[in-house]
Amino acid sequence: MGFYRERVLPRLHDRTLDRDSVRRVRERACAPLHGTVVEVGFGSGLNVAHYPPAVTRVRAIEPSAVARRLAGPRVTAAAVPVDFDGLDGQRLPLPDASVDCALLMLTLCSIPDQPAAARELYRVLVPGGFVSYAEHGASPDAAVARWQHRLNGLNRRVSGCRLDTATPAVLRAAGFELTGEHDGYLPGAPRWSAYLYEGIARKAG
Ligand SMILES: C[S@@+](CC[C@H](N)C(=O)[O-])C[C@H]1O[C@@H](n2cnc3c(N)ncnc32)[C@H](O)[C@@H]1O
Repeated sequence: MGFYRERVLPRLHDRTLDRDSVRRVRERACAPLHGTVVEVGFGSGLNVAHYPPAVTRVRAIEPSAVARRLAGPRVTAAAVPVDFDGLDGQRLPLPDASVDCALLMLTLCSIPDQPAAARELYRVLVPGGFVSYAEHGASPDAAVARWQHRLNGLNRRVSGCRLDTATPAVLRAAGFELTGEHDGYLPGAPRWSAYLYEGIARKAG
């Protein structure tokens, strides 16, 4: 990883993603979680404050050492044990059917092989388990989508992620059934970066 990606980007995410509009999304995405949860792309732990009491253990997957360090105080203050258990959502070091829920928050866009990450989540969830997701991605508006395609390369260098992830399609292709879909633009951000997919992706029971 280069200096910018390894040292600067995690700090940028820690600052820019800790704002009211995103906190409301975190609250919604974390509310249904329970039992053992795998959080892929744990970042600096900005979701920790939103875990509900029904969560008993968190298995955090995060490749950035700086993000893991920034998460330290939040992990220490957490009401549940949080273990850093892996570095890559594309290859989870967890047994089959070993977690009750998963959290995907603004992370799929950063993972190079998104179908592999979705298949891994399907594998590690218990039957009937689910992914609670809140992911920015491809806008259904043609004009916005054109800007997303134009800006994709630049955004990957600056923010480390794609703008045009088709989150529901990626999750469905891995075998998940989607419910409670709630999509729309996050207020207070440019539309090309703010189309948000939220919902529950459930593994067959
Ligand atoms: C935009 S940040 C979001 C962090 C956190 N989910 C949040 O909501 O604040 C994306 C995160 O995905 C992580 N990431 C990048 N590639 C990954 C991979 N292959 N597997 C798991 N996480 C990854 C990044 O290091 C970064 O912490």
